[in-house]
Amino acid sequence: MCGIVGIVRRRLGVARDLIRSLKKLEYRGYDSAGIAVMSDGDIEVVKGVGTIEAVVGDAKIRDGYVGIGHTRWATHGGVSPENAHPHLSCNGEVAVVHNGTLDDFEGMRRELIAKGHVLHSETDTEVVAHLVEGNLKSGDKPLSAFVKAIKKLKGSYAIVSIISGERALFLARNKSPLVIGLGEDGNYCASDVAALLHLTNRFIFMDDGEIALLTPSEVEIWRLNGDSLEKVHKETEEVEWTPQLLDKGAFDHFMLKEIHEQPHILRKIAESIDYYTRFSERLNSLLRDGSLTIVAAGTSYHAGLIGKYLLSKLAGVRSEIIVASEFPEWSSHLRQGDIVLAISQSGETADVLEAVRIAKSKGSKVVSIVNVPGSTLTRISDESIFIQAGPEIGVAATKTFSAQVAVLYVVSSLISGRSGISRELTEVSELLRGSMDSLDEFSKKMSDLLKDKEHVFFLGRGINYPTALEGALKLKEISYIHAEGYPAGEYKHGPLALIEEGTPAIMLVPVNEELRKKTIYNIMEVRSRGAFTITIQPRGMEIPADASLETDAWDELISPLIYTVPLQLIAYHTAVILGRDPDKPRNLAKSVTVE
Ligand code: M6R
Repeated sequence: MCGIVGIVRRRLGVARDLIRSLKKLEYRGYDSAGIAVMSDGDIEVVKGVGTIEAVVGDAKIRDGYVGIGHTRWATHGGVSPENAHPHLSCNGEVAVVHNGTLDDFEGMRRELIAKGHVLHSETDTEVVAHLVEGNLKSGDKPLSAFVKAIKKLKGSYAIVSIISGERALFLARNKSPLVIGLGEDGNYCASDVAALLHLTNRFIFMDDGEIALLTPSEVEIWRLNGDSLEKVHKETEEVEWTPQLLDKGAFDHFMLKEIHEQPHILRKIAESIDYYTRFSERLNSLLRDGSLTIVAAGTSYHAGLIGKYLLSKLAGVRSEIIVASEFPEWSSHLRQGDIVLAISQSGETADVLEAVRIAKSKGSKVVSIVNVPGSTLTRISDESIFIQAGPEIGVAATKTFSAQVAVLYVVSSLISGRSGISRELTEVSELLRGSMDSLDEFSKKMSDLLKDKEHVFFLGRGINYPTALEGALKLKEISYIHAEGYPAGEYKHGPLALIEEGTPAIMLVPVNEELRKKTIYNIMEVRSRGAFTITIQPRGMEIPADASLETDAWDELISPLIYTVPLQLIAYHTAVILGRDPDKPRNLAKSVTVE
């Protein structure tokens, strides 16, 4: 995963902005961090294990005109000061930061060591600094030394390098994100746009196989074509996101802020039906030629399950869904003209991108639902739409799940020709806005009960089976309590054996009467075996439970948008009570850019 940043400018002052950018990238990895800054020719590095604030926050680094920074989520090599980036060459004249994983780097390491290079880390990245140094020593000019080194690499990489004496950033991208920001007094690059919003809103999005040279006044980009470099011209795009969106304001955590943003986002989607109409028409016309397969990972996969349900229920569209990491094994049937719908918040999830590449190689059309502007998925899809949720910083996806579900609701409704979608979403938005405080209060109480439990089960039926999966994912990823989501009716086929006296079972009670009756049987089943049952249910229903949250959900199909919020809040408060940081859960990163 990891986040990288680079700044080159006419005046001094890169260090402070590098640190600001890195803090915005911390969600991509937070086990170690570092920056390298160059002023009068010498490169100075500060790096180590810990958060950005702890490692470089008050670093007494000499300021400079050009610098790079990195926040790490370890892949090659453990979490240690030596493995933290930036990595330097032997003579300290080349510094490199990298996001991605290099294949066959062991061979290159051996070759470099045989040539007398001394490598200090276990990382794949360090070889790049030494390769560039070797080329410089052989007489290559800086750009050509960098390009020659890049040509040797296999695997995924977004790489930024600085070279002693050069007021320039050297960039290369293959299968890892890298964007270029254009400023008044310099140019910048980073893993995503959010990291540079305090500097600019004008971006160039690099594509795979591209190399770039950034100086304070110029940006040059080439495509690597075999052994030759072809100059490419790329459009500048303006991004609507503002730096204020990256501020957590009065909230204790980004996750809580993002949960509270949901009513606003639903309203925004409700007001953008025209924007989604073109995409829906295009998808509908593609559906005449081929079958539909949805692909996504994690929370986006759960939204995809709801999408599959909505497409079937509302529009009579048959689809299948494959979790992204399994796509290569389960997609042999795809043919020319089939449609793959990829759903991703970041648009950078490696498993999703790989699925899309496979689909394209088979001649399938790829349409995508994405949150981050300019992300790789939007660039490799035939058609994409945005969910308009704004930047999501908390590692646990919350507002983007609701936005994905709402957009899938809109798209399915538009394909079916239903009307009244905007009104319905506005009503959900108002309902949530008016009930946030009571949802929060209820969730806090439940969290207090759950905090000491070893297992929690989430059971739902129909459209709320994926909601149950999502509730369980949220709880386990940020509180580290084991949680499982299950179809309520399937539970008796095995997992029921796990219920003991006091085991919590959170039951999502359907609005639909037939489904509700069945779920009530399921509630009885777990209660009679000692489960502590918590229901999230429509108002005014007599349902046997130990604790209940009554909601004003009035329709089965919109109920996930309402039921999800207390589940997110339960996860959030449980993590907080247990002293865990909900924004940065252990072992995880927001954007999973490795397969
Ligand atoms: O950016 P994406 O939507 O493609 O990310 C997919 C998953 O990595 C993501 O949803 C992950 O499961 C979240 N941490 C869940 O909260």
